[in-house]
Amino acid sequence: MQKGSFFLGKSSRMSHIGLLGICFLSLVAGALECPLQISPQSVVVRYGDSVSVNCSTSVTHDGMGWESTKGGVPLSKASLITWRVSQLTDWEIEPPFCYINYGQQQQCEVALPVTIYKTPDSVSISTANQAMTEGNQYELQCDIHNVAPAQNLTVNWYKGETLVNQTNFTDNTKSPVNKIIRLPIHPDRADDGAQYRCEAELNLGEEGPQPHPKNTSEPLSITVHFKPTIHKLPSTVSVVRGYSKVVVCKSEGHPKPTISWSDGTNTVNGENFTITESTAENLTCTATNAVGSSSRSVTVVIQENITPIIIGIVCGILLVISVIFIYIYITCYKKNKMGHYNFKKPKASKGLLAQPAQTP
Ligand SMILES: *[C@@H]1O[C@H](CO)[C@@H](O)[C@H](O)[C@H]1NC(C)=O
Ligand SMILES: *[C@@H]1O[C@H](CO)[C@@H](O)[C@H](O)[C@H]1NC(C)=O
Ligand SMILES: *[C@@H]1O[C@H](CO)[C@@H](O)[C@H](O)[C@H]1NC(C)=O
Ligand SMILES: *[C@@H]1O[C@H](CO)[C@@H](O)[C@H](O)[C@H]1NC(C)=O
Ligand SMILES: *[C@@H]1O[C@H](CO)[C@@H](O)[C@H](O)[C@H]1NC(C)=O
Ligand SMILES: *[C@@H]1O[C@H](CO)[C@@H](O)[C@H](O)[C@H]1NC(C)=O
Ligand SMILES: *[C@@H]1O[C@H](CO)[C@@H](O)[C@H](O)[C@H]1NC(C)=O
Repeated sequence: MQKGSFFLGKSSRMSHIGLLGICFLSLVAGALECPLQISPQSVVVRYGDSVSVNCSTSVTHDGMGWESTKGGVPLSKASLITWRVSQLTDWEIEPPFCYINYGQQQQCEVALPVTIYKTPDSVSISTANQAMTEGNQYELQCDIHNVAPAQNLTVNWYKGETLVNQTNFTDNTKSPVNKIIRLPIHPDRADDGAQYRCEAELNLGEEGPQPHPKNTSEPLSITVHFKPTIHKLPSTVSVVRGYSKVVVCKSEGHPKPTISWSDGTNTVNGENFTITESTAENLTCTATNAVGSSSRSVTVVIQENITPIIIGIVCGILLVISVIFIYIYITCYKKNKMGHYNFKKPKASKGLLAQPAQTP
C-alpha cells in the first residue's frame, strides 16, 4: 500500500506540472501558431500572370477570409478559401493575408509574400571608344531597361565565354527600373578582337522560374591598338667583303607598322635590307604605327674575304702532299728496280714451266 500511495502522490504532482505546461504551451502556441495552412506559402508571379493560393484550416471556426487589395475573399464559413487574381499587375501590392476567427473570440492571420517580376525589355552593351589602346583604361556600359525587382537582378559580364564580373543591387524598389552598369577594363594586345557581352539574370529563389530568366546583350567586339615590337632580329650580322646579305626585320603591331632601315646615311623602307661592305657599322630597324615606334640596332661586321687564302693554303698543302708522294714513289721505284730480279724470277719460272706444255 505504501508503494501505491507513493505512486498516486507522484502521479498527482506530475499532472499538476503537466497542466501548467499545457497552459503555457497553448498560450505560446496561440500567439505563434495560427491554425491556418496557406499553400503555396509564398508566390513569385510574372507581371500580368494569374495567381491562386489556398488557405485552409482543420479547426472549427466562426469564419475566415482573405484580406487583399485584389481578389479578397469575404468572411466565409468554408474551411478552404482561395485567393485568386487573373492578372497580377499591381507592383505595389500589399502582401495579402488569410485570417480566421475561432475559439473564444480569437483571431489570427497569416501573410502571403508576393514577388512580381518582369524580364527586361532590352539589354545592350556599348563603349565610348571601340578602338582602344593597350595600356589605357576604358569602360564598357550595360543598359538594362524595365526590369523588376532590382534586388533579385544580377548583371553578369562575359568576355568570350568567361564570366569576368558580376553586379548585384540592393535597392528594394518593387516596380521596374532601368539600370546602367559600367565595367572598367584594361585591354592588352591579346584582347584584340575579344567579344564582351552583359547578361541580366533574375534569381527569384526556389519558388521562382527555373532556370533563372536570362537576357543577354549582343556581343561587342573591341579593337586594341598597340605599339610595334621587333623580334627575331640578330644583334650582329657578318658579311664577307665582296658579298651581300639580306636582313629581314619582322614587326608586330596594330595597326600594321611600317618598317624602315637606316644606317645613318641611307634610309630604306621595307622589311628587307641588303648589307654590303659599304653599309655602316651601326644599322637600325624602326617599326612605326599610330601608337608609337620601336627600334633595334644591328652591328655589321665586314669579314675579309679569305677564300683566296684558303685556296692558296689548300693548293700549298696539295703541292706538299704531291711532292711527298712523288718522293715516296721515286724512292719505292728505285727499290722496286733493285728487287726486280727477285720478283721476276718466279714469274719467269712460271712462264718456263708453262711453255713446255704449249710446245711439246
Ligand atoms: C487549392 O485547392 C483546390 C481544391 O482542393 C485544389 O484543386 C488546388 O490544386 C489547390 N491549389 C493549390 C495551389 O494548392
Ligand atoms: C568587378 O567590378 C568592380 C567595379 O565595377 C570591381 O570593384 C571589382 O573588383 C570587380 N570584380 C572582379 C572580380 O573583377
Ligand atoms: C550576386 O547574387 C547571386 C545570387 O543572387 C550570388 O550567387 C552572387 O555571388 C552575388 N554576386 C556578388 C558579386 O555579390
Ligand atoms: C530577392 O532578393 C532578396 C535579396 O537578395 C532575397 O531576400 C529574396 O529572397 C529574393 N526573392 C526571391 C523571391 O527569391
Ligand atoms: C528575356 O528572356 C526571357 C527568357 O529568359 C524571354 O522570354 C524574353 O523574351 C527575353 N526578353 C527579350 C527582350 O529578349
Ligand atoms: C624580303 O625577303 C624575303 C626572303 O628573305 C622575301 O620572301 C620577301 O619577299 C622580301 N620582301 C620584300 C618586300 O622584298
Ligand atoms: C646605333 O644607332 C642607334 C640609333 O641611331 C643608337 O641608339 C645606338 O646607340 C647605336 N649603337 C651603337 C653601338 O653605336
